Amino acid sequence: DESKTGIKGLLDSGVTQIPRIFHCAQLSPDERSGSDYKFSIPVIDLEGIHNNSILRTKVIDKVRDACEKWGFFQVVNHGIPVNVLDEMINGIQRFHEQDTEEKKEFYSRDCGKKVLYLSNYDLYQSAAANWRDTFICFAAPNPPELEELPAVCRHIVDEYSKRAINLGLSLFELLSEALGLNPSHLKDMDCAEGLLLLGNYYPKCPEPELTLGTSVHTDGSFITILLQDHVGGLQVLHENQWVNVPPVHGALVVNVGDLLQLITNDKFISVNHRVLAKHVGPRISVATFFRPNVQASSRVYRPIKELLSEENLPLYRETDAKEYLARYFSKGVDGISPLQHFR
Ligand code: SIN
Ligand code: FE2
Repeated sequence: DESKTGIKGLLDSGVTQIPRIFHCAQLSPDERSGSDYKFSIPVIDLEGIHNNSILRTKVIDKVRDACEKWGFFQVVNHGIPVNVLDEMINGIQRFHEQDTEEKKEFYSRDCGKKVLYLSNYDLYQSAAANWRDTFICFAAPNPPELEELPAVCRHIVDEYSKRAINLGLSLFELLSEALGLNPSHLKDMDCAEGLLLLGNYYPKCPEPELTLGTSVHTDGSFITILLQDHVGGLQVLHENQWVNVPPVHGALVVNVGDLLQLITNDKFISVNHRVLAKHVGPRISVATFFRPNVQASSRVYRPIKELLSEENLPLYRETDAKEYLARYFSKGVDGISPLQHFR
């Protein structure tokens, strides 16, 4: 009974073989290994971006390059103290490792709730189940009250969400400038209005080669800020190769989502990524998605007109947040990348 246990409960019950529903196309050791040396996602130091215009210009150039070539980069000196990051990882771990009875109160598949917990939030859209449990918090525009958050992590979830929004706003300024736009352009398009936080828990897996922690996907966000612990397993597809995203203590991973690819008319790319299941664990990660405000659905998204020209005609039709997200969450059913629907 999944509601009592989650994937963690399955493991705790002593399974040595994973149930069939978790089996996906089996990956050979070669396909799993990922490359560490030939390529590596850029690490960008944000120190000084608010008070040194020379440094800021250099950072903007790096951000542009990373978003055009990788769709992924890591940031250091981003302004969120390392102890806040560590405590956020610990808080999410505490949530998943508390007594089943406490956790059960949050168990739900109803994403109308502001705070919930489940295994495989994308189960009905996926070919195979993933070896992962997830804590979910819709942190903006209508954040939950502190009392609505789980007692074991409420203060840190609240603090981390606020700090992530601030960092997101700084990143949207850099991204706007990297596109040659006014610094507030992306914020003014409401790219930072909706914040969805996923606190993932990947238990160690008895048969990691048969499944995945997270299936191959692109993100449906404008951007995603990812906090990962020291375990590793995240891989990004780059020039047709899976590249490991090495954990860097104190760093945050930033990636371009489908909506940023759409509004930049493919200048910035939203790339496939996945998480391997592992013999070692648990692995904790926190993905923070900057999305449109789904409630204020009158806002439409289309390629930004300042980026278009006769040589760069719009590749996408316009869409609104509701339609876009509905497409995104039906992706597994028709097997087509959600962006293709708007081409
Ligand atoms: C995701 O991309 O959805 C999860 C990434 C991670 O856990 O590292
Ligand atoms: Fe993702």
